[in-house]
Amino acid sequence: MSTPHNSANLGEVAKTVLMPGDPLRAKFIADTYLTDVKLINRVRNMFGYTGKYKGKEVSVMGGGMGMPSVGIYSYELFKFYGVENIIRIGTAGSYIPELNVFDLVLAKDAYSESSYAIDMANYTEDIQKPSESLNNVIIETAKDLNFNLHVGTIHSSDVFYHLPESKYMDGVKKHNCSCVEMESFALFANARATGKRASCILTISDSLVSHQETTAEEREKLMNNMMLLGLEAAIKL
Ligand code: HPA
Repeated sequence: MSTPHNSANLGEVAKTVLMPGDPLRAKFIADTYLTDVKLINRVRNMFGYTGKYKGKEVSVMGGGMGMPSVGIYSYELFKFYGVENIIRIGTAGSYIPELNVFDLVLAKDAYSESSYAIDMANYTEDIQKPSESLNNVIIETAKDLNFNLHVGTIHSSDVFYHLPESKYMDGVKKHNCSCVEMESFALFANARATGKRASCILTISDSLVSHQETTAEEREKLMNNMMLLGLEAAIKL
């Protein structure tokens, strides 16, 4: 069995999937952390792999940028491949001075002005929620690893390049969002629609307050803590 966007066969995807946006990051995780690795999807180069971490099966697959993209890949994994948990691992821009580059964030929930949830399932709320039980596993795992984890409301934006006349900050302020990314609201809506679990761990890659930025090389490195946190949480599920 396959879908229009995924050539994996039924049974080739683990019940827990780590989902970075970048398919090459999925490859990096598979190459660096997993054993017994099998490439399970290469449609559109949205690479997916299944392998073992500390002896336990886990999959890692790219989800692309933005809600339409992550919406397709995560829905198909939940609905057609029997996936139970998706942990998004991504980068975000900080909205608050307390959050600096390299800091780790766990989404308590995701605010968005996106029409994804209402369009998909008539979910009218502008906040979509991750799984509380999955979040708790991630929080416990971060404690075990001695990683600082900021837990807060995030903004899932449809727009990367806002112009000065945009009013997008009104919603961000209303919901006290601590940082911005572009996918979690759709991922959480999909988990809700399919009765599955999703969470999102983010690393701050740039600050919209201090205008601090990271280089591609630094980002590569700073993703390591987040990958480790995702993998260590995944094998507890
Ligand atoms: N905006 C949206 N998404 C992002 C950003 C940003 O500044 N940084 C990382 N992901």
